[in-house]
Amino acid sequence: MRILVCGGAGYIGSHTCVTLAERGHQVVIADSGVNSSPRVMPRLQRLVGAPLSLHRVDLRDRTALDALFTAYRFDAVLHFAALKAVGDSCRRPLEYFDNNISGTIVLLRAMQDAGVHRLVFSSSATVYGEPAQVPVREDAGLQVTNPYGRTKLVAEQLIGDLCQADPAFRAANLRYFNPVGAHASGLIGEDPAGEPNNLMPYICQVAVGQRERLRIFGDDYPTIDGTGVRDYIHVVDLARAHVDALEYMVRADRSFTVNLGTGRGVSVLELVHAFERACGRRIPYEIVGRRPGDAAAVYADPTLAQQLLGWQAEHDVDAMCRDAWRWQAMNPQGYRSTTRRATPPRLRRSRAVGARLADAY
Ligand code: UD1
Repeated sequence: MRILVCGGAGYIGSHTCVTLAERGHQVVIADSGVNSSPRVMPRLQRLVGAPLSLHRVDLRDRTALDALFTAYRFDAVLHFAALKAVGDSCRRPLEYFDNNISGTIVLLRAMQDAGVHRLVFSSSATVYGEPAQVPVREDAGLQVTNPYGRTKLVAEQLIGDLCQADPAFRAANLRYFNPVGAHASGLIGEDPAGEPNNLMPYICQVAVGQRERLRIFGDDYPTIDGTGVRDYIHVVDLARAHVDALEYMVRADRSFTVNLGTGRGVSVLELVHAFERACGRRIPYEIVGRRPGDAAAVYADPTLAQQLLGWQAEHDVDAMCRDAWRWQAMNPQGYRSTTRRATPPRLRRSRAVGARLADAY
């Protein structure tokens, strides 16, 4: 299939482009560049072994979108393009509503007018708010706890309304838990702008010496060691889920919503210790107060994804940490890095192609 990947230069989008290409799909990327670097492109091209086109398009720009739909005959759209920082969304809610919700509406209109009826949407476990029980199933209550979460819930709802109204339209809502890690080549990974909001990129920056210590937000939760428990999922498993979801949506000709997680809860301290094993260094940390809005434990029941898509996560926490560390060590400044400053861990034999590419790079 020929796939338009909106937000394809970003963290999860770029990894999904690799998997799409590996499965023989053609990829065209539209990305506004607001939270991504064009330097991902040569690296992506090395990984997929073929040229990829990147179009600098903001989804709210209907004219630019129409030009893309006219230039290419797409079979489906994967929609990753969104702002995603919770704290920032509380300070600038209108920016989030406009970018994430208006952008989605403009995209849906352009798709409908172009006769493209298949959408895979990046949703989030944030739509469950503070879940009443774990593991969380897809039929759990939905709740908004911040403007970012509202944009994901509203987007899911308006996509659902469109599927009701237009009998040809099919959509897959993928509710991610906590994506972490990087491609095994170390060529692409997460490159947060400024101070990271999320745990794994923060740990990475402490490990590489860019930040002095991690602050752990609370050790008095009713969890195994008092720290928050989450369902971390390797970004390569997540990328594979997108292609499985796309192919299932086409094959079964139906819309659906699934959780994407491992089903296993991991505490902050467990992740810190796994990372220490992966990088061979100590991660200094201090315990501080709870972060407002944080739940004690959130992890998925991924049974539905297994049943519908035949998908399940394959990478464990050690693999997530090893791959996150390799990316960070090879690219201490993310995509701005020009030199290697640390010795990355040995590449796994099973990723021979990626290993050769990393060496060439
Ligand atoms: C956060 C967002 C969620 C978003 C997800 C993307 C909030 C409230 N939720 O989820 O909407 O979809 O990221 O992955 O921000 N922690 C620390 N120190 C840190 C950072 C985090 O102790 O410097 C702890 C948190 O308290 C939490 C765990 O690490 O227990 C994971 O935090 P984080 O990576 O921010 O993810 P979530 O809060 O689960």
